[in-house]
Amino acid sequence: MSIKIAVLRETDADERRVAIVPSTLSGLTKLGASVAIQAGAGLGAHYADADYADATIANDPVAMVTDADVVLAVQPPPSDVVAAMRPGAALVSFVYANREPALVEQLRDRRISTFAMEKVPRISRAQAMDALSSQAALAGYYAPLLGAVHLPRILPMMTTAVGSLRAARVLVMGLGVAGLQALTTAHRLGAITEGYDVRPETREQAQSVGAKFVDTGVDARGEGGYARALTAEEQAKAHEVLTRHIQQADLIVTTASVPGRAAPRLIDHAQIAGMKPGSVIVDLAADGGCNCEGAVPGQTVRVGPVTILAPPNVPSLLAQHASELYAKNVFHLLGLILKDGTVSLDLDDAVIAGTLLTHAGEIRHVGAMGDAEASSRSPAVAEMQT
Ligand code: NAI
Repeated sequence: MSIKIAVLRETDADERRVAIVPSTLSGLTKLGASVAIQAGAGLGAHYADADYADATIANDPVAMVTDADVVLAVQPPPSDVVAAMRPGAALVSFVYANREPALVEQLRDRRISTFAMEKVPRISRAQAMDALSSQAALAGYYAPLLGAVHLPRILPMMTTAVGSLRAARVLVMGLGVAGLQALTTAHRLGAITEGYDVRPETREQAQSVGAKFVDTGVDARGEGGYARALTAEEQAKAHEVLTRHIQQADLIVTTASVPGRAAPRLIDHAQIAGMKPGSVIVDLAADGGCNCEGAVPGQTVRVGPVTILAPPNVPSLLAQHASELYAKNVFHLLGLILKDGTVSLDLDDAVIAGTLLTHAGEIRHVGAMGDAEASSRSPAVAEMQT
């Protein structure tokens, strides 16, 4: 008997992505799966139902998941769908447990094995499953393009019959996956680029994509390769150095985040007031509360001399490529958990242990719902917790 996989149509208004694209279907079939897709699931990413030739198209998501072994989605599914899933089935989607405590409890109580895509460990072996990276890279690519069309000037140097136009200065703050991609794109578009981060190892990474590194002398390396929050003293030190670079920039892209916390504030009103007229800030941290004072998620606002954009869920704006990469991430994760025609979980595997949020009636991650909820865990899980 083959494994039954159900792919949901997303319900969030601004979510255009789909968990499986037509080109990943044949791979799933080779893993021994039969796939049902909710009608219209791919439309936001420009895939018609007819493009999913090897799948069954289902109209009712609740009926579709009832006998599914694995349910795939991008965003966490609605509660009526979870309620219809059979106990012991697996869910693979982004979950963001801290934002969805009731859903996580429901998943636990339904005995669903939940693989939270945002928890895939950032280790080499799991790179092909790392949806945070694949989606962040696209968001980072998009940010300078979005900023460029709101600038009253061009990014590259241009020589004309009446003289030369100077290249724009682009500052990227936060040099994780998205920030480095933003620097790369801005450099390719001909801008003079600068990058800033509180993890010193990003200096070389910024330089390798043609940017100058803004050194504030703050080292805020945290656990698991992420940044930690800055102390008040460190913030003041960084603020002083950064103000000059912020006020020289034509375009700023901010991407900073610290796991489990609201996005750090990187630019304040006083710094904005001294920026060049017509300059633009693209705040990529809209989903986490924004890096820039005055930014409003989902809106384009004028603050003093500056236009500030804070688009939420940027990967969804590039739904076709974002879905293609996400589907590949999901496919590689499924390769780890589908064995010989069944779902088979090696709980000592660091990738499975790190990603598995609920299983067998338990919540397996400290921090997902509060420490009291976390059940006994394998050593591999404890190692992966951040
Ligand atoms: P993220 O989305 O958590 O944060 C973005 C950036 O913001 C980070 O570079 C962080 O250092 C920076 N940041 C935080 N607070 C800041 C502040 N106050 N001022 C300036 N910058 C601040 O980062 P992302 O992109 O998820 O990457 C996190 C880490 O994981 C990085 O070390 C990255 O290299 C690593 N990584 C490793 C992978 C692997 O080995 N397979 C794959 C992807 C990422």
